[in-house]
Amino acid sequence: MLTRPLGSTGPRVSALGLGCMGMSALYGDADRGESIATVHAALDAGVTLLDTGDFYGMGHNELLIREALSTAPAGLRERAVIGVKFGALRGPDGSWGGVDGRPAAVRNFAAYSLQRLGVDHIDVYRIARVDPDVPVEETVGAIAELVQAGYVRHIGLSEAGADTVRRAAATAPIADLQIEYSLISRGVEERILPATRELGVGITAYGVLSRGLISGHYTADRRLAANDFRAHSPRFQGDNLRHNLGLVEALREIAADKGVTVAQIAIAWVLARGEDIVPLVGARTRERLSEALGALDVKLEESDLAAIERAVPAGAAAGDRYAEEQMSMLDSER
Ligand SMILES: NC(=O)c1ccc[n+]([C@@H]2O[C@H](COP(=O)([O-])OP(=O)(O)OC[C@H]3O[C@@H](n4cnc5c(N)ncnc54)[C@H](OP(=O)(O)O)[C@@H]3O)[C@@H](O)[C@H]2O)c1
Repeated sequence: MLTRPLGSTGPRVSALGLGCMGMSALYGDADRGESIATVHAALDAGVTLLDTGDFYGMGHNELLIREALSTAPAGLRERAVIGVKFGALRGPDGSWGGVDGRPAAVRNFAAYSLQRLGVDHIDVYRIARVDPDVPVEETVGAIAELVQAGYVRHIGLSEAGADTVRRAAATAPIADLQIEYSLISRGVEERILPATRELGVGITAYGVLSRGLISGHYTADRRLAANDFRAHSPRFQGDNLRHNLGLVEALREIAADKGVTVAQIAIAWVLARGEDIVPLVGARTRERLSEALGALDVKLEESDLAAIERAVPAGAAAGDRYAEEQMSMLDSER
């Protein structure tokens, strides 16, 4: 397995990480047994980075990871580098209630995550969305205290803009920024990537398949449950969806020429954007995981990259990456 460092101060991890969110929430029902088998298969293949959030299924995802690690063959579970997001507030009905980045809340979230995961430390800890009411120095400072106390190893950020990354990095060492980055979500390139590169902060890229939209497996007739993220995502609606799936067909031709799949091209493109970038893939089954891992063997030549750029130029997608209310919570979009 290829490895990459998470920034200049973070751990060295597998060049692809496994994002576990879809095993508990947002993309419709997932099969628990298959989810756990997927985590085991990932560890067995050399994937070390497992990404979760305490609010993914209100603790469900952390408990799932705990079960997967406790049932993993000896030698595999020690490989896991667990990244946890916190801060998102939920209601019992699954509703969203904003974000809490106050130091007391940070300590509280961490205490519960350690218990649910059944671990004595969290490898990378980050607030899911920058709390607009709490200076980032206070939130990051509280995580830094958890590092001092041995409960957390590294500090990360999520969907933070360039100015916030600078303020956070001036407070404590920041391993990585987790942010959406894909062929059709390239907003990070203008101001954020130059800042993270200057500061030695790595990138864990999420949504590299745009939540399945550019995986090559998504079809316009797919029925979505009301609580499926994609039922409310602008890119998955009506004319936007038709336009975006047209981009996928252009990618499919390039993939076919290379004898690989659309998902592999999309993941390989993110991998090719820099050694400082670790894509997370949201595989929920061993079959999808195996396809995603195949991207590590795809070598994109300059001519391939040019063809991909022609097929899906920056800004080609129709629709924002989040619905309006969620977009307004993104520090990275300010
Ligand atoms: N920091 C943040 O704000 C934030 C936000 C969102 C996610 N994340 C993290 O990033 C991770 C990845 O994000 P994501 O799940 O939205 O992204 P993704 O990898 O772009 O999309 C995952 C979806 O793509 C479909 N897919 C089709 N072919 C696939 C393949 N070969 N491999 C993997 N998936 C395939 C899957 O649907 P089927 O299972 O139906 O095939 C899956 O539900 C999450 O699990 C989470 O840990 C972070």
